[in-house]
Amino acid sequence: MDHGESSHNGALKAILTLGHHTIELPLICGSEGEVALDIRRLRAETKGLQLNGKGIQGGLITFDPGYKNTASCQSDITFIDGEHGILRYRGYDIAELAAKKVRFIETALLLIYGELPTPAERENFRELLTQYEMLHEGMMNFFYSLPPNADPMAILAAAVQCSSLYNPELRAIDPADEDSFRAAAAKLLSRVRTIAAFSYRKAMGLPFEYPDPSLDYCSNFLHMMFSIPYRRFYATETMIRALNLFLILHADHEQNCSTATVRMVGSSRANLFDSISAGISALSGPLHGGANVQVLRMLERIERGEETIDGLINSVKIKEPGKPRRRLPGFGHRIYRNYDPRAKILKEAVDNLLEELQINDPLLDIARELEEKVRHDDFFQKANLYPNIDFYSGILLRAINIPVNMFTLMFAIGRVAGWIAQWREEALNPEAAIQRPRQVYIGKTCRGLCLP
Ligand code: CMC
Repeated sequence: MDHGESSHNGALKAILTLGHHTIELPLICGSEGEVALDIRRLRAETKGLQLNGKGIQGGLITFDPGYKNTASCQSDITFIDGEHGILRYRGYDIAELAAKKVRFIETALLLIYGELPTPAERENFRELLTQYEMLHEGMMNFFYSLPPNADPMAILAAAVQCSSLYNPELRAIDPADEDSFRAAAAKLLSRVRTIAAFSYRKAMGLPFEYPDPSLDYCSNFLHMMFSIPYRRFYATETMIRALNLFLILHADHEQNCSTATVRMVGSSRANLFDSISAGISALSGPLHGGANVQVLRMLERIERGEETIDGLINSVKIKEPGKPRRRLPGFGHRIYRNYDPRAKILKEAVDNLLEELQINDPLLDIARELEEKVRHDDFFQKANLYPNIDFYSGILLRAINIPVNMFTLMFAIGRVAGWIAQWREEALNPEAAIQRPRQVYIGKTCRGLCLP
């Protein structure tokens, strides 16, 4: 098979036996060897089939809560090999992108358009980012109306939608129209950074700092975060490099919960801004992007002596009947059964960053000790639970002075790149259908209403 293609493998079929009937199900092969059972015709072909003397109502459906075994789409954006801990954006290994210091915006364009930009394309997009970095002044009322200490992720989700209301033409773009799509993508990528910084300023009771068109993406964000009227903030090269790496590592991760949400919302033909706003809400949960905050809080509790590493490890092993197991934030992953390659890169980067900045962060020592103990623990070994991206990312963010309540929002700034790419892929797929899972109804059967 050609690289980058997937196809029905005509020779291979799965045979499903239902009583006396057999149904042939074709297989789809991905370009990296993934094989999927194509069940698109399952319902139609099983409709009315007799099973144990009864006709199958409406045809056979599949049951897969949490979609642990279900591919919702074919995609050529990001590839993960969970067994071997491999992550590639458009075929490029994440470790190579990180090592060669590709910039976040170049990575975003790679994800969105499939290739790294030429210098001219990069310059052209940079100009768009500058052109769109300001929020409409009307948005100031939005920020002023928020209560102090409002949750930055909730602000971001609402502000992304709200800011698009000032550009109704972008809410109605044709995803196939290159110019308007590019403008919408640039506006989102640029504004999400401004909104993030403004949320922080609002929470701190500081005046808003407007973007500076002379600065690159990361420096501009740090300027909006930390400059104050009487003291301009100049980010160091080390800080910019760390932030760039953080954003690249978070830029996409195939069909995770928030990306699947963006695609699902987009499948109803909802516009890019509304779809991404929904993705931000999905990302906020503690099992997903919100885990980076939980990790930091856990390390702080250990530092304060409120919990011990051994106590913590033991507590997740006890599973009370009928209750979900307590989970150690920053460990485990639906796809990786090996070390998350992003965590590996971050761990090394954090060591170098703290050394360069001459920071001695006690939370890093605690994190290292926790990881060491977890990795030698039988329970975690058997369940293949390794550190994920959220385990070390907070220590990197702390080192560049990003407050803990902004951590998940930082994740979102990076992930906007992938969400845009994935939304467009869904929107341009001629075979895409509105995403609408089925259910197995287990409630009361039809009964008459008997009023007193
Ligand atoms: N601590 C303790 N037990 C765990 C953990 C953990 N972190 N993760 C999974 N398990 C257990 C889980 O409880 C289950 O055991 P049992 O059925 O006996 O209760 C077993 O391991 C298998 O779990 P799984 O099928 O891998 O779980 P999943 O795919 O539904 O969940 C996950 C994946 C990421 C939600 C989960 O590993 C987790 O909750 N981790 C902690 C939260 C976290 O760090 N999330 C960030 C994920 S990476 C970045 C992102 O996507 O946002």
